[in-house]
Amino acid sequence: MPRVFKAIDIDKEQKEIMKDYLDRHMPHVICADEVKKGKIFRVKVRMGENYPHPDDHDHYISTIQLWNRETLLAETKYSSGAYGNKPVNVEVDFFINAPDVSMNLTAMAVCTKHGLWQSEEKPVKVI
Ligand SMILES: [Fe+2]
Repeated sequence: MPRVFKAIDIDKEQKEIMKDYLDRHMPHVICADEVKKGKIFRVKVRMGENYPHPDDHDHYISTIQLWNRETLLAETKYSSGAYGNKPVNVEVDFFINAPDVSMNLTAMAVCTKHGLWQSEEKPVKVI
């Protein structure tokens, strides 16, 4: 099993010391807190907040996944150079159909050099 770097496991002190490294690898799930059952809604996943990640031939964000609890909902893949070999906060929008029950969304992201990273959980209420 690969090691998974999780937002929830990183304490405040560690966050401060390694803030640029942690920030550029951490996926964030951004969407409405509440959605209507059976409607399509947008879920954005963004890598980092303040620090962009490299887009080099041997070091780039290769995969972003969106999970609802233990179910993989969507996934996107990138090749190196997709962002012109310039540092970037990679963003992707997924469009998901709201199921019958509330969701707990998580994003996973793969850096080709620094492994697998997991976002905080984003609860979404379905009404
Ligand atoms: Fe990296």
